[in-house]
Amino acid sequence: QDPAPLDLKRYIREVPDFPKAGILFYDISTLIRNADAWQIATARLAESVLKFQPDMLAGIESRGFLTAAPLAMRLGCGFTMLRKPGKLPGETISHAYGLEYGHDELHLQVDAVRPGQRVVVLDDLLATGGTLAASVDLLRKAGAHVVGASVLIELAALKGREKLDVPVTSLLTYED
Ligand code: PRP
Ligand code: MG
Repeated sequence: QDPAPLDLKRYIREVPDFPKAGILFYDISTLIRNADAWQIATARLAESVLKFQPDMLAGIESRGFLTAAPLAMRLGCGFTMLRKPGKLPGETISHAYGLEYGHDELHLQVDAVRPGQRVVVLDDLLATGGTLAASVDLLRKAGAHVVGASVLIELAALKGREKLDVPVTSLLTYED
């Protein structure tokens, strides 16, 4: 439980024009390097994920690993990785999805989840929603019952939430 209300946005560094001109980058490095702030963020995230009653958390490479792994420990869930191509050994299933430029692909080991297992997918940030939507599709292909998606940061203006057909929780919302 939080000892006192803490504004976590104070720990997110806003970097203009990264990775390219016109993009405002929300940098969580400054959050995770502060032990107290990161503890509090993790506790709040855990609270928002707990209500989905997950059996398993899935984290999206790479920044989604940072949010998912500590939560899985905390909630006593398993943790599974959604990875970029060529990283996972053994048989995998994949899902390709469109990005603003080109496409990307996520992979999951075929035996990563048991049929019907309640899975919550975690990432650091929800922007257009393409990454999370693809992750939900992929987890379903593997037989998961995807019960929710949770992020630290939501860029509300991009309406990524509308691409998702599972309940979404976010800790910090930016409107512009
Ligand atoms: C960023 C972010 C989310 C995704 C959100 O990942 O970490 O995963 O973009 O964008 P979307 O909602 O428009 O799909 P990125 O691909 O930059 O890779 P990284 O996590 O490995 O840094
Ligand atoms: Mg990412």
